[in-house]
Amino acid sequence: MKEGVPTEGWGRSLPQIGQEAPDFEAKSNRGDIRLSDFRGRWVILFSHPADFTPVCTTEFIAFAEIYGELKKRDVELIGLSIDSIYSHIAWVRNIEEKMKVKIPFPIIADLDMKVSRMYGMIHPEESSTASVRSVFFIDPEGKIRAIIYYPMSTGRNMSEILRVIDSLQTVDKHNVATPANWKPGDPVIVPPPITQEGAEKRLREGYECKDWYLCKKKL
Ligand code: BEZ
Repeated sequence: MKEGVPTEGWGRSLPQIGQEAPDFEAKSNRGDIRLSDFRGRWVILFSHPADFTPVCTTEFIAFAEIYGELKKRDVELIGLSIDSIYSHIAWVRNIEEKMKVKIPFPIIADLDMKVSRMYGMIHPEESSTASVRSVFFIDPEGKIRAIIYYPMSTGRNMSEILRVIDSLQTVDKHNVATPANWKPGDPVIVPPPITQEGAEKRLREGYECKDWYLCKKKL
């Protein structure tokens, strides 16, 4: 841990699923960002440990590759690290020059760690000066709907990020749940009945059921 950096209590109260996403104003390489300006749209806010590092670079290329898919789903993508605006600008230019990939989304320069601390992105036992790999899925009402944390060493899986967004949007639209390994087009889970009478009726309702509490349907 870096000497002189007070970390007592950091990361001890992580934001939780269902809570309102803490609002913030921050500087990014594409101008100032206020989270509440995105109300009405889905937001994926993700942090990475540091610019100009290998795993993060592969992730940025991968995020750029799914950017169009996110846009189709009306999702805004916002990156963040504890690096300066100048570092972000230089890194984005480097990725474009050396890897021929444009990074189309903003990256917050969280030098004072204001946003990272708010979102529990700093896990001092991993690093007290860099954010871990976190992903916050924030819905159009500004609620946190899913959170993923990965360590420094493990690059994230973009298919899973798209799958989580697809699941959340499907759940909201159809009042269903999605099973393990679900992907769009697969059957979804009908919410289990919550009364004795409902349980007795469930097997006669025309769903594909293993038993009264595990029924699926095609959308
Ligand atoms: C990386 O992105 O390669 C990385 C960043 C921080 C620590 C370790 C690896």
